[in-house]
Amino acid sequence: MTEVVAEVVSTDAADWWRQAVVYQIYPRSFADANGDGLGDVQGIISRADYLAALGVDAVWLSPFYPSALADGGYDVDDYRDVDPRLGSLDDFDAMVEALHARGIKVVVDIVPNHTSNRHEWFQEALAAGRGSAARDRYIFREGTGPDGSEPPADWTSMFGGSAWERVADGQWYLHLFAPEQPDLNWANREVRDDFLKTLRFWSDRGVDGFRVDVAHALTKDLSDPLPSTADLLALPRGTGNHPIWDRDEVHEIYAEWREVFNSYDPPRTAVAEAWVETHRVPLYASPTSLGQAFNFDLVQADFDAAQFRRIIDANLELAAKSGSSSTWVLSNHDVVRHATRYGLPPAEHGPDSRPITEPGRAWLLTGGVEPVLDRDRGERRARAASMLLLALPGSAYLYQGEELGLQEVADIPAADRQDPTFFRSPGVSVGRDGCRVPLPWTEAGESHGFGAAAPHLPQPAWFAQWSVEAEEGDPASTLHLYRRALELRHRLQSGEHLDWLETGRDDVLAFRRPDGWVNVTNFGSTPTELPDGEILLASEDFEGRTLPGETTAWLRS
Ligand code: GLC
Repeated sequence: MTEVVAEVVSTDAADWWRQAVVYQIYPRSFADANGDGLGDVQGIISRADYLAALGVDAVWLSPFYPSALADGGYDVDDYRDVDPRLGSLDDFDAMVEALHARGIKVVVDIVPNHTSNRHEWFQEALAAGRGSAARDRYIFREGTGPDGSEPPADWTSMFGGSAWERVADGQWYLHLFAPEQPDLNWANREVRDDFLKTLRFWSDRGVDGFRVDVAHALTKDLSDPLPSTADLLALPRGTGNHPIWDRDEVHEIYAEWREVFNSYDPPRTAVAEAWVETHRVPLYASPTSLGQAFNFDLVQADFDAAQFRRIIDANLELAAKSGSSSTWVLSNHDVVRHATRYGLPPAEHGPDSRPITEPGRAWLLTGGVEPVLDRDRGERRARAASMLLLALPGSAYLYQGEELGLQEVADIPAADRQDPTFFRSPGVSVGRDGCRVPLPWTEAGESHGFGAAAPHLPQPAWFAQWSVEAEEGDPASTLHLYRRALELRHRLQSGEHLDWLETGRDDVLAFRRPDGWVNVTNFGSTPTELPDGEILLASEDFEGRTLPGETTAWLRS
């Protein structure tokens, strides 16, 4: 297969994000330079050449701020500092410099819905007592029942258990996530101003963009009487006036953020993590709001041509509505890795074709011991799906380790688990630790080259096979496939649309991008003939022009 020679597509500096490949780093599990078992900022610097060789346009760092890690760092003690176990602000600056020197942009995670309970504001709120200005930065309420010992409402947190926690003087505070993550009151001007300051703080340090955590939850209508869970569930979503989720006025906040973003040259970018009704996504992706929004549809889909086609069409249409570009995700730090999902039986689907169970979770609950996982098949399908994803118009968000075809770790002992979901929903969810196990860099040695000490989550022995070192030495490895795919994508990409090509088969998808770049993905098990054109790259080796099952090929016609 020969490589195409073409002009590198030059993108306007302000538009760099529209078709970028963004690589998500979960810093505590990426690379540990100081040997304490936790990944750190110097670890990222030490792997800057690896990222450059991979060919990514940007990295997105999950939280690296000071945190007690009650929720993997999404419980932030201080938004304008680096966790001392991960480094210092000087290290951060050096990292930005090292990445920028290699042409890689830096996106950081902003967690505005909640602080940690160790944040100085929350400590002040506890000390200041009821009715104080300090408590007004959060959502404090009196309890119910004769002595106020019942929570203000029967709401369940996202990680299980009550969404309300009582403090020593008897008041309760709201936490949609863990009790260590008290929700902020975004009606409070001081809260708004402080986040504007945080955005400027990181933008001034050279950060290029922000990933906005739970972007659809900031504003809430908590007027009395509070609705019950049954009331909340009965309310329609997607109307803009649900008491908790996706309220229209959240965009007033983002309009202020937008002013900050646009005061920089090039403007800082943002991408919303907003789990909202499909028709609401363009509000977040609008250029007057955050500018781009995640689409998690492929995360919830099986390896299935019809599902992929429906999702691709729907999201390209949504992107066109907002004027943004689409985003594509197969894996991240919250879901079962796609190389494993695709090796499992398909999820059960409801009448609206959405999966009833989160793909892969049921298998995880058994500790991954049921003999249903076919790892080879999972990786083969993952390679095919990743190539398809990389051929789509828009931004591709990759999660660390997927370039290795890395699999989920299902059998982490209970004593080693960290995710609050595991502790707060006994027997219901094992949580998300299985995709957060530190990366294997070498085949042998302490923590497979992650660092010089035992890693904070244990790595299984089979990680050796998926290590960077093992894959470097194997030209057929997933790592080499990603490198070649990213390099080709840079050369071939132009325009932001695709045209579907007729394949005569329901289980084969083919489309053409501008300038003759063609992607053909065979989701089925029987081979298919490729259309005309020079074969540039394929997710598996094959002879001639017959594309095997569960394989993607790129052509130039
Ligand atoms: C987002 C993050 C997730 C975190 C939650 C609460 O969904 O992706 O990891 O637990 O927000 O901050």
